[in-house]
Amino acid sequence: MASVGLQGRSIAITGASSGIGLATAIACAHAGMNVVLAARREEKLRTAVERIRGLGGHAEMLVMDVTAAGENQRLIDFTRATFGSLFAVFSNAGYGIERPVLRYTDSELDRIFKTNFWSSLELMQLSASHMLANNPGPIRGHVIACSSCVSKIGLPGFAAYSATKALQDHFGRAMRAELDAQGVCVSTVHPIGTRTEFFDTVAGLSGGKRVSIQAPERLKQPAEVVAHAIVKRLRKSHGAEVWTSLPMRIALAGATLFPGLTDALLRRRQRSIDAGKN
Ligand SMILES: NC(=O)c1ccc[n+]([C@@H]2O[C@H](COP(=O)([O-])OP(=O)(O)OC[C@H]3O[C@@H](n4cnc5c(N)ncnc54)[C@H](OP(=O)(O)O)[C@@H]3O)[C@@H](O)[C@H]2O)c1
Repeated sequence: MASVGLQGRSIAITGASSGIGLATAIACAHAGMNVVLAARREEKLRTAVERIRGLGGHAEMLVMDVTAAGENQRLIDFTRATFGSLFAVFSNAGYGIERPVLRYTDSELDRIFKTNFWSSLELMQLSASHMLANNPGPIRGHVIACSSCVSKIGLPGFAAYSATKALQDHFGRAMRAELDAQGVCVSTVHPIGTRTEFFDTVAGLSGGKRVSIQAPERLKQPAEVVAHAIVKRLRKSHGAEVWTSLPMRIALAGATLFPGLTDALLRRRQRSIDAGKN
């Protein structure tokens, strides 16, 4: 498989003010890419941009809320106007909320699906169309969405989050097949528990008693592991599912193969959480 040169190419990254998005922005800049970092928190973006420039990289920032109308198009236009073209997009902005299914409010569901799925899908559609219309072949660009390992399983306490990640996974796979022959690569990233602000946000939004299965701190990976895997994939001439944990991949394949056993394990774990033993 031919290697794609990244030097001087441009990438736009949502959710780049912290965690996986920030680590990916730094890794892409290190690989010679021009990076646009997008998120809501201006100060965090400014610090990130200064950090990348201090390391000799090329970075600009765009303060935006991915759920606001027109903002994904603004990100594409801004990247093109700033760096001359848009080679890659990492649709990464997202968050989780912990709730039993019977306790979600409509507005909670609306917000998480809008942020994690609808906006991500819009960015994937707009950027792929932009690459087809503006970038010369054979590799016109690469669209990447940050899904999750939980895209493959509806996790108790995390049903809405798991569902948004499954939708990204399904659309990503279909787009990958549809666009490959036209030179647009589409990838989905499936991190396991990663040490970022993600779990603080979950705690802040969820309050109350913990209801879901969570990876112990010692088993969480650093965001840099995910970033490294993304840069590796950007160098390839085809999109793919990007995984950073082989044991998790195998465990999830087992969960699909043995659904009854998976249900039994989830039930047992849930009973123990309900009994306050975790
Ligand atoms: N950490 C994990 O264990 C894990 C595992 C699998 C998948 N993921 C996925 O990885 C992605 C990144 O999460 P993370 O772990 O790096 O957590 P994080 O540190 O909390 O990063 C989330 C990013 O999303 C941005 N964001 C959230 N809502 C936004 C909105 N409406 N508009 C614009 N930006 C928004 C936040 O920026 P602002 O607040 O500045 O806007 C922040 O930069 C998410 O899609 C998450 O689902 C995480």
